[in-house]
Amino acid sequence: MATQRSENPTELKEEKIAIIGSGQIGGSWALLFASAGYQVALYDIIPDHVTRTLELLLDQLHTQSRDGLLRGTLAVEEQFGRIRGMQDLGECVTGAVWVQECVPEDLELKKQVLKEVDQHSSLDTIIVSSTSSILPSDLSRHLKHKDKFLVVHPTNPPSCSRVVELVPAPWTAAETLTRAQSLMKAIGQSPITLKKEIPGFILNRMQFAIMAESYRLVKGGFLSPDGVNKTLSAGLGRRYAFLGPFQTAHLNAEGFGSYCERYADTILRVQQSFGAPQQMGGALAEHIQEEMAKEVPLDKLGEARRRREAKMAALAKFKEDLDAVKL
Ligand SMILES: NC(=O)c1ccc[n+]([C@@H]2O[C@H](COP(=O)([O-])OP(=O)(O)OC[C@H]3O[C@@H](n4cnc5c(N)ncnc54)[C@H](O)[C@@H]3O)[C@@H](O)[C@H]2O)c1
Repeated sequence: MATQRSENPTELKEEKIAIIGSGQIGGSWALLFASAGYQVALYDIIPDHVTRTLELLLDQLHTQSRDGLLRGTLAVEEQFGRIRGMQDLGECVTGAVWVQECVPEDLELKKQVLKEVDQHSSLDTIIVSSTSSILPSDLSRHLKHKDKFLVVHPTNPPSCSRVVELVPAPWTAAETLTRAQSLMKAIGQSPITLKKEIPGFILNRMQFAIMAESYRLVKGGFLSPDGVNKTLSAGLGRRYAFLGPFQTAHLNAEGFGSYCERYADTILRVQQSFGAPQQMGGALAEHIQEEMAKEVPLDKLGEARRRREAKMAALAKFKEDLDAVKL
């Protein structure tokens, strides 16, 4: 962004970051670290995935550059040149100060990959999982370097969403957490550090609560899937881009105490009608997919993701500009 470009030139750094798994999240992390000048090694068990991801990343960098949304001050070629595809997990991890595991959400697979990462890590290497919901203790109790392990859960897509959740296991060293917070800030992310682990962490507990209620509303015949989407994107989501739920409540009455006096009974009554947890799937899931595919057919998901990334990057820039003028 313009101010950052002139005032804080991005330095090329010696430290190596290893990314294991080059799907959506691995690719996005690679871009984030590269834009901050780190050397990035990217490995996937399917070599074609690395090749495909590198192509997508170059394309994404050119789009960001064209739209004036490139992160940091390095040019497209410099950022892209920081990322190297690797053929071997051991080679990828050796010498890395930070290893970001980004393989599919499967406990046994992640445990196996992390065990291998652990074997190639040095005493200084921080080992991180991008898991969306698996407890850090379940992923790391078997590791030799478990004091160096934590979950760093990004918001998708990490290259244009700032918030990352840092979730320690009971044995994560305080120094590991401090180093993780510093590195996340150094690459321009906003770390939120949990005091202790809980299933789904914070972001997904909130996201799943919204998903569960959205699904119940459609299942109960109260609203169409499109209506639910609009309620969030044109309604609540616009406010939440600037204020969290407590700040919103604080402003919607004469402070949060007054909000509770006015609305706590109503909120409790509505909550009591939420109903039991529901397993999503079957005919209703098919119906929702058909409705979503009217706007974004399955073979156009890639294009829709790129549009989402461009819009989110533009929103991030807009918010930064607003903060700079302190409205
Ligand atoms: N997609 C999201 O919205 C999102 C958001 C935040 C966190 N996450 C988490 O990030 C992780 C990755 O998700 P994703 O959406 O990028 O998945 P993905 O399926 O797009 O990518 C996973 C990649 O890992 C590779 N892989 C599988 N086994 C491997 C192995 N043994 N060694 C190396 N690579 C291997 C696959 O070939 C694939 O390229 C998951 O834990 C997910 O829960 C996802």
